[in-house]
Amino acid sequence: MAQADDNQLKKIISHAKEYGFIFPSSEIYDGLSAVYDYGQNGAELKFNIRDYWWKAMTLLHDNIVGIDAAIFMHPTVWKASGHVDAFNDPMIDNRDSKKRYRADQLIEKYVEKLEDKIEKEAEKAARRFGENFNRELFLSTNPRVLEYRKKVGEVNEKLKQAMGSGDMAALKQLIIDLEIADPESGSRNWTDVRQFNLMFSTEIGSLAEEASKIYLRPETAQGIFVNFLNVQKTGRMKIPFGIAQTGKAFRNEIVARQFIFRMREFEQMEMQFFVKPGEEMKWYAFWKEHRLNWHLALGLGEHNYRFHDHLNLAHYANAACDIQFNFPMGFRELEGIHSRTDFDLKNHEQYSGKKLQYFDPDTNQSYIPYVIETSIGLDRMVMAVLSAAYREEKVTSAEGEDGGERVVLSIPPVLAPVKVAVLPLVKKDGLPEKAQQIVQQLKFSLKCYYEDKDTIGRRYRRQDAIGTPYCVTVDHQTLQDDTVTIRHRDTMKQERVPVTHLEKLLTEACSVNTLLKKLALP
Ligand code: GAP
Repeated sequence: MAQADDNQLKKIISHAKEYGFIFPSSEIYDGLSAVYDYGQNGAELKFNIRDYWWKAMTLLHDNIVGIDAAIFMHPTVWKASGHVDAFNDPMIDNRDSKKRYRADQLIEKYVEKLEDKIEKEAEKAARRFGENFNRELFLSTNPRVLEYRKKVGEVNEKLKQAMGSGDMAALKQLIIDLEIADPESGSRNWTDVRQFNLMFSTEIGSLAEEASKIYLRPETAQGIFVNFLNVQKTGRMKIPFGIAQTGKAFRNEIVARQFIFRMREFEQMEMQFFVKPGEEMKWYAFWKEHRLNWHLALGLGEHNYRFHDHLNLAHYANAACDIQFNFPMGFRELEGIHSRTDFDLKNHEQYSGKKLQYFDPDTNQSYIPYVIETSIGLDRMVMAVLSAAYREEKVTSAEGEDGGERVVLSIPPVLAPVKVAVLPLVKKDGLPEKAQQIVQQLKFSLKCYYEDKDTIGRRYRRQDAIGTPYCVTVDHQTLQDDTVTIRHRDTMKQERVPVTHLEKLLTEACSVNTLLKKLALP
């Protein structure tokens, strides 16, 4: 069980700022809550993640195509999708601390604490019984664990009922019955729970009348649904097929803490896979496995992922789960995989009055397809990569390496903002010129960085801190035999290779194609 690590999160936030990954938005005006800007390294990292996702979707599957729909959409889209009426979070204020919370999250936190207690009981028993410990038996028989489990079941059931029926009074009663206090002040002086719609609205055109009110899209998916027939017809797509899209989405989140985990402006990477009704469970299982493999191929550690099935299904879904990642705050949703039935297309058909059906040439019948959706937050993925990559370690001095401590970002080479730093050992004797020549050769296929200031040890540390997987060092031997050393970020080991081998070697190690080949279906 992951324990929340606030300290680790703080370190990642400050490192991300110090090294040009992520800045608070409009920082010179003291920032804007839950909005962030990506700096020079963050933008490259984000681009590389997006590229990996886009290519995994559109190159590896000949039945998936990508689109780029507008952020602004006809306002009726959001009526049809259910967002105007039901895209609400239940919010509650604490009268003493003046802090605002999501009521459902306060209750979920309460449940998490009970689950932590169960885990602690199991850890204690494991220590006591040593090798003979049978975890499953313990969890299913220990009276204290059974008591906690019963409570978890009861609270979850009440939460599910209150959320499902939109009963805000029941939600407040649950908070009172469970004696949940404000996590900041400890006060239990709560207001009533109110529904809060998360969509941002603005006005289009110059007339301030009702008809001109439009929304900033809260998800990219609807841009895919409304273009379903356009793409199917113009691309002559046959079911099953998918439409992929990446782009900005906006939500006026009530509680927007935890860095780029929950933002008010963020980016999604979504794919809607249109299937024949009745076949959706087969494809749901396919996409669960396929998406997990996409994550695992990056090598951030299998132990960092787990599936979490939704008990509380949205009204449009007949199955849904999250891929959770072990963030510094514990396991949290990174990606959602949802079987959305024909809910969206059916509603758009009804609201627009236009037929949104697929004509099946094999059976000569038309039908509204069912949809499996995979939806991942790009920013959340950046945070997952940074969380898994950030390491502090002690270093013993060795050739070229300063001793002491280093902070290293072990970002997968494919995603690293800079792939190779080319460093002349000293700033004289023709070494800078030779290093510049190497940059000129590599720069067409690899993001390079040249630097000749400071000791080589200091320069290695700076590259470690931004996650550059390879440093190429040009020394006096280079001028004699045209070889350089490659220094590997994670092991700090060095190897000598001919300059002529560099491009092939490094491109293979850093290319998205290498990763895609691991994922390719037979
Ligand atoms: N179309 C389905 C949909 O939007 P969602 O679970 O609301 O589903 C999908 O969002 C993904 O978008 C989440 O798994 C998460 O990675 C990301 N996401 C959602 N809200 C976010 C926010 N406020 N900030 C950053 N990422 C967010």
